[in-house]
Amino acid sequence: MKDYIKYHEWLIIEEGFNPEHNRISESIFSIGNGKMGQRANFEEKYSGDSLRGSYVAGIYYPDKTRVGWWKNGYPEYFAKIINSTNWIGINISINGVELDLANAKIQSFKRVLDMQHGLLTRTFVAELKNGNQLEVNSQRFVSIDNTAIGAIRYSVKAVNFSGEISISPYLDGDVFNEDSNYDEKFWVEVSKEINNNEGYLTLETLKTKFQVCTAMKFQVLKNNQLVNSAPTNFVAEKYIEAVQTVKVNAGDVVTVEKYAAVISSLDFSIEQLSEKANEFVTQAQNAGFDLLFESHKNLWLKKWETSDIKIEGDLAAQQGIRFNIFQLNQTYSGEDERLNIGPKGFTGEKYGGVTYWDTEAYCLPFYLSTAPIEVSKKLLLYRHRHLTKAIENADKLGFNNGAALYPMVTINGEECHNEWEITFEEIHRNGAIAYAIYNYINYTGDREYLAPYGFEVLLGISRFWSQRITWSEKKQKYVMLGVTGPNEYENNVNNNFHTSYMAVWTLKYTLEVVEFLQKEFPYLYEEMISKWKFNAIKETKRWKDIIEKMYFPFDTERNVYLQQDGFDDKELIPVSELAASDKPINQKWSWDRILRSCYIKQADTLQSMFWFENDFSESDLKRHFDFYEPLTVHESSLSPCIHSILAAKIGYQQKSYEMYLRTSRLDLDDYNNDTEDGLHITSMGGTWMAFVMGFGGVRVRDNKMVLNPFLPNNWKSYQFRIGFRGAHLSLKKEREKLTITNYSNVAVILEVWGIPVLLEGNSTKELDK
Ligand code: BGC
Repeated sequence: MKDYIKYHEWLIIEEGFNPEHNRISESIFSIGNGKMGQRANFEEKYSGDSLRGSYVAGIYYPDKTRVGWWKNGYPEYFAKIINSTNWIGINISINGVELDLANAKIQSFKRVLDMQHGLLTRTFVAELKNGNQLEVNSQRFVSIDNTAIGAIRYSVKAVNFSGEISISPYLDGDVFNEDSNYDEKFWVEVSKEINNNEGYLTLETLKTKFQVCTAMKFQVLKNNQLVNSAPTNFVAEKYIEAVQTVKVNAGDVVTVEKYAAVISSLDFSIEQLSEKANEFVTQAQNAGFDLLFESHKNLWLKKWETSDIKIEGDLAAQQGIRFNIFQLNQTYSGEDERLNIGPKGFTGEKYGGVTYWDTEAYCLPFYLSTAPIEVSKKLLLYRHRHLTKAIENADKLGFNNGAALYPMVTINGEECHNEWEITFEEIHRNGAIAYAIYNYINYTGDREYLAPYGFEVLLGISRFWSQRITWSEKKQKYVMLGVTGPNEYENNVNNNFHTSYMAVWTLKYTLEVVEFLQKEFPYLYEEMISKWKFNAIKETKRWKDIIEKMYFPFDTERNVYLQQDGFDDKELIPVSELAASDKPINQKWSWDRILRSCYIKQADTLQSMFWFENDFSESDLKRHFDFYEPLTVHESSLSPCIHSILAAKIGYQQKSYEMYLRTSRLDLDDYNNDTEDGLHITSMGGTWMAFVMGFGGVRVRDNKMVLNPFLPNNWKSYQFRIGFRGAHLSLKKEREKLTITNYSNVAVILEVWGIPVLLEGNSTKELDK
């Protein structure tokens, strides 16, 4: 836990330079635009501890897995979005001495991330070994208007010296990934050119053969006047640089404006790449930093109009929630169905930037409620595109007849996880993907998505469940053996409640969908069943039998469903009785001890109770929460959010608030001591859910938005924006009052605290409570 970030409602501020925090700050101050992301590395050279990271969405390398004892079904590789050309680099030297904050005396260091406008700035005064003092001011952003563009304005003031300042903008593609399994570099050079103040570098990934072209252009100004002398150019393997030397007197300010265009063969043909990159970068330079920033900023202001959350009376919480929203919007913008959301987004290497069930389980609701419908639809289409691979994946594991098992970790539809032993049997992810289809349709009303997209995916998943579930003669029930639930502190268990519940629910939902399609889209339905050779009568007969006779482990004494068979054999000692020195158990205990223990990493049984709360009475939910939460160590960042929502649902408002606090400033306060690896982007989706579904009590039921808001005790008010079926609402909760404003022309019927409320277009309603 750290607390060096200064509170502010819109800014993230670090004052004073502490090299020990540098990697953490590099993650926190990251910028991105859905197409590329950049850690908050310094532009100038830094020889201290740093994780350099520039990432391009969708550009990955299949790094061979490291497994000792190979088994059938193991993935060949772990895909990772790789570190690519460093486009921010600008070396500075003063009278022959290089600026390097690891070797300089630093004063007034300040790093600021302006979340409202998407701008990163850094200012400091440095004294070099030769006694020369300089004042640096840098600003940079990656445009959300033209997502190929990054821009930097970097100025150096000669505080106490005269002589020469050398400014050397460069592109460096000779980069590596710290998490490379075999310490390999993943790029080879294709072509490069540098001419005066412009150049480009095209690289290709090994194996996957993606090409990324990065073009740069820059101009240098002295006291705001363009410097006309020609720079000197240098090239090396995967590297281009231009050195511009400027004579200065004390007080002079030299500024470099550097523009970069980063594009890849995902979007352009290889033949066109360098031409296009040059075109983009020229346009950027012609527009200039201020104009580019203006259109970028205006788009950010628009994004905030539909996604902002305001909190009065708690600045830390205000900063926390905006940081989560900002980072989610920086990571995914829904323009391309080939892209998805990595657990760390573009802010670090851990988890390889690839897709987990996190997207469907934790992120989808944020985009459903705050972005146009196409954005969340793209997340669903991503999985639809991977259906054939999911079928192949299931096939490899011995399933047939179009059964689909989606990977636990993927980039292109193939399974690719490093820690195969743990995640192999986490087949609950298939349920999350099915649930996302339901969630999307329930929220948006877009039932047409079912034909053909939704149906095809649901059919594949249902076929998988139907084969994965087996009949137990002994129990005279269907069982699901050898699985791992979301709680990864149990492996290879039988009858994990959550997995079985998801399976049965998927079968029920698919049956409903079949009925709906038969009625509403009969021709399309016929086409689909012939395409998928779906024998509705035979296949659904087994589904119905499973629905009726599925086994769920139950503890009759405690009246709770058990997480899995035998969970009640464990020593059930609450986490509160664990010594502080035992926590976190994933760092302090052996894997053997963890697996034997009763401790739960993250919501497991409670994950289904959250998704299917309507299947349970409030006292059922309470009993399960009271049983499981005290045994939960919340050692996944994805854990507190679900508990916060459930706690709110059952009236445990203080608990809900406590859980919320654990998730909302997780990265800003480096709660888990791992922010240096990158931000917990997918858990930020969970934080948003905890706010809106927990405190706001928002649900969608029977095509209506249902609200049950409450205000945490120590806040004065909160206000959030939410979109629903064409309406755009703001909901403000004060101590005794709720104000709902509809900013659209579309009327909506809401249910607030159980009472129907009609809200006409462009109107406001106040309710007491
Ligand atoms: C969690 C998984 C999650 C993964 C990526 C793990 O620690 O247990 O549920 O999918 O992290 O965020």
